Parts: sequence; structure tokens; C-alpha cells
Amino acid sequence: MALSPPSLLLFSLLSLLLLQSSAVIPRMLFLVPQQPLVLTYHKGALLKGNYTVNLLFYGSFTPVQRAVVVDFVRSLSAPATSVESWWGTTGLYGPGGPTRLSPGRVLLDQDCSLGKSLTDSDLLALASRPPHRGAITAVLTAPDVLVDGFCMSRCGFHDAGRAGRRGRVRYAYLWVGNPATQCPGNCAWPFAQPTFGPQTPPLVPPNGDVGIDGLVINLATLLAGTVTNPYGDGYFQGPPTLPMEAATACTGIFGGGAFPGFPGNLLVDPASGASYNAKGLAGRKYLLPAMWDPRTRQCKPSA
Ligand SMILES: *[C@@H]1O[C@H](CO)[C@@H](O)[C@H](O)[C@H]1NC(C)=O
Repeated sequence: MALSPPSLLLFSLLSLLLLQSSAVIPRMLFLVPQQPLVLTYHKGALLKGNYTVNLLFYGSFTPVQRAVVVDFVRSLSAPATSVESWWGTTGLYGPGGPTRLSPGRVLLDQDCSLGKSLTDSDLLALASRPPHRGAITAVLTAPDVLVDGFCMSRCGFHDAGRAGRRGRVRYAYLWVGNPATQCPGNCAWPFAQPTFGPQTPPLVPPNGDVGIDGLVINLATLLAGTVTNPYGDGYFQGPPTLPMEAATACTGIFGGGAFPGFPGNLLVDPASGASYNAKGLAGRKYLLPAMWDPRTRQCKPSA
């Protein structure tokens, strides 16, 4: 369940549209009404109840950068914050009630124990450290760490591993890279000039850090996908190998009035000029992706 860079996705969607439109009578495009976006439930297990999020910082992250990420995860269950109400939409994906996420262990691997060029199996090895019960492990890689497919086809992914006797315990994990130097235009949009597609000036990131504010968008996207489609048979649309999930179904949408290349209308901090759409604990501001709302079947941006 890879998270494709929005601009790459847009680029491929555009080329798909161009290909398709050359194969059909153009006016058909106007006659066919837009299908409502529906994520189908595939009857598998969802993550419901209380989970902790273990954060493994792999490579170099400053204490300030780590605090931005940890405060985001803390905010997911902080009452009366708009981060928490954004997360609340995941609780509408039934069966079962809400999923409450809180920070678990914070692990540092500053010396990059598996080197600076990682494969998917390296990421699984990093995520396989216990505890797994009631936990999701997020592996976050530093800007100078190469990961197969990072920036080319994906900004991160989530998946499941197996542990315990005969692999009876399934656990969910995810990986997100800090795109600051490798591909801010792909994986930190709208805080960087997009690599493909319509060009818009970059927005000022709310924590003053293009890479980390972009990483938070992707972490938020993957956490929503993880709890609503943890084992590949939850909620998604499209092929299981390239599913559109809770937030990836709404790629590129951050506020009302969004269209390709325009993230939508956002709140702006008058002092810094930063754009955001959610507030968390400790006065933190974040930009979070719109999430598909099962009641309305629409992408709902954070208030
Ligand atoms: C989940 O955590 C909250 C807050 O710590 C607690 O009040 C609640 O009882 C927990 N729920 C379960 C099912 O353990």
C-alpha cells in the first residue's frame, strides 16, 4: 500500500486522461457524470480501540524535528484539538468504533544500523522489533537515507508483518521518508514547487521545515490507511496492489475548493505566513490531508 507522490499521481492521472480522451469522443467526457468516490469494505480486520504508535527515527533528526512528529501523534487523541477531530473520521469506518492512537516508544537509530540504502525487507526488519501487541510501528528515515522507490514511485507505505509462534501475530507498520533533499516537489507538496503538473508557488510550512511538515502529511495519510486497511482487506478502491485508501483517495486535497495544483483554501498564520488546516497540542499547527468520509462519500478536509 504505497503512498504515491501527489504530483506523480497527478501526472499519471493527466496522462491517463489524455490517453483516454484520445480514445473516446471528447464530448463523452462531459456526458458521463462523475462517479461518486466509494471505498469498498472488503470484510477484513480493521484496527479499532487503543493503539500506540512506536516511532523509530532512522538517521539524523534534530530534537525539534522529532518533537514536531511526536506532538502530532500526541495530538491525535488530544480532546478539543482539530487534529483529533480530523482523526475522528477514521472512527466512522465500521464495523467497530473509534481508534485511539497515542505515542508509544520513541526509538533512535542515529547511526543507521542497516546502512543508508534500505530495501523493503530492511524496513520490515526495523519494524519487526517488539512490542507489537496494540502497537503500530512507524519507521521514519532521514533525508540522506535512500529507500527503494522513495521519490520515484512513493513517499512511504504501510504493510503488515508477522511475529510470534508460526507468525500468528499480525502487526501493522509503516515507513515514511523525510523528502527534504531527495524530492520535496514530490513528497512535500504543497510546501515545495511541484515536480510535475500545474505550477503553484510553494506554501510556507507551519513548523518552518519543508521536509518534516511534508513527512507529517505522509505520516497522517499512512496512519489513516493503516487503521482502515491494515491487512489489505479493509477499506479501499481499486486494485489491492495500488489501492486508494482513506486519505490517498483524496490526494492533493487539503482545503475547500481544491483542484489539481491548488491544495484548497487553508488557514494562514498571520505572523509567519504559514499555511495549515489543523491545530494540535502545545499550539502546534499542521497541514493534514483530506479524508474520505463514509457517511457523505466525499473527501472531507480538516476544518
Ligand atoms: C483506551 O484508552 C483510554 C484512555 O487512556 C481509556 O480511557 C480507555 O478505557 C481505553 N480503552 C480500552 C478498550 O482499553
